[in-house]
Amino acid sequence: MELEREDELVLNGEFGETRRMMMEILVALGKVFEAERMIPIRSAQVSGASYKTIGEYGLQWLKGLDARAAVPAVLNPVGMDRERWREMGISPEFAKKQAEVVAAYERLGIHLDCTCTPYYLTITQFGDHISWSESSAVAYSNSVIGARTNREGGPSALAAAIIGKTPYYGLHIVANRKPGLVIDVDGAGTHDTSWYGALGYIAGKEAGNKIPYFRGIRPERDQLKALGAAMAASGAVALFHVEGITPDSRVFHYDLNGLDTIPVEQNEIGDLYKDIPVDAVAIGCPHCSPDELGAIARLLEGKHVKKPLYVFTSRAVAGNSRGCIETIERSGARVYADTCMVVSPCMDSYQSIMVNSGKAFTYVPNMCNAEARIGTLEDCINVACS
Ligand code: F3S
Repeated sequence: MELEREDELVLNGEFGETRRMMMEILVALGKVFEAERMIPIRSAQVSGASYKTIGEYGLQWLKGLDARAAVPAVLNPVGMDRERWREMGISPEFAKKQAEVVAAYERLGIHLDCTCTPYYLTITQFGDHISWSESSAVAYSNSVIGARTNREGGPSALAAAIIGKTPYYGLHIVANRKPGLVIDVDGAGTHDTSWYGALGYIAGKEAGNKIPYFRGIRPERDQLKALGAAMAASGAVALFHVEGITPDSRVFHYDLNGLDTIPVEQNEIGDLYKDIPVDAVAIGCPHCSPDELGAIARLLEGKHVKKPLYVFTSRAVAGNSRGCIETIERSGARVYADTCMVVSPCMDSYQSIMVNSGKAFTYVPNMCNAEARIGTLEDCINVACS
């Protein structure tokens, strides 16, 4: 891989051991994927932020690093609301370790937004090269915004944040963004966000790491978010196209001849909605948008929850949705920032959790050791209140 003079100096350790190590990670990636060169990036999003997922080894590794991010970089959700962790039932021991992880990232110049929806905070545009690692954020930025990122791991996104560059391969190259599979959906009727999450749960298993091209659906923004997040979890989808909706599908002409076509019928999606008893409800995977908080507030107005109802969002979105949050919390539900039902240990004690997200539906069984039930937002609220 061709390196600029300055990059070679970094690789030789002229700018410190951490930058040398970070450049080494990027060069190794570039070699594996036969990148010809590095390209500058506009932003980074760094996963590997919850002490629940990175553990002591990850924390000690982070503590040993000494450099600053060269581009705007935000942190993925951590294991607790950084202000209300006691209320969440987080132990002081966990909170102390989590605070150390956060402090280590702060020292590296990573913004502590702690969200998987950084696209609500920073302006990312069509064609921007970025280096993001949270899988749902990768799917959203590539597909809904038309930005360009590979599905980075936490360390490679951190390396890109510190160096300000990434190797030019994979989804950074327009020619590699063509569909690899057509998914024909019987999308007749109107569908809520959870339906798109359930569709994504099915489609991700079919797609694996291919790029699906959907026909037959007309999702809105939050529904695209749910669709991509679910496919990134049940499969390894980093980019998808929806005919006539997503930007790449409107800008580029794709030849679909010869691609496998998978039909998805409404009854396959409907079969995922099972009426099993649950002992808690969790909404906000990926983190709620202002519109989603508004919808939850409208459904909860004047009601009282009888089961724990958790809502997750980013601190910035929460700050701009004070009225909605007051309404939601007046019902007894709780809105937490910085974290989520999967990366926090706060939901590990429940046997069965209801969600309206295809991604959470995929992850809850393994990450929370609980049975997962998917339902519409309305059903989630009704179940929490009954
Ligand atoms: Fe975000 Fe947590 Fe879901 S990081 S995408 S809310 S699993």
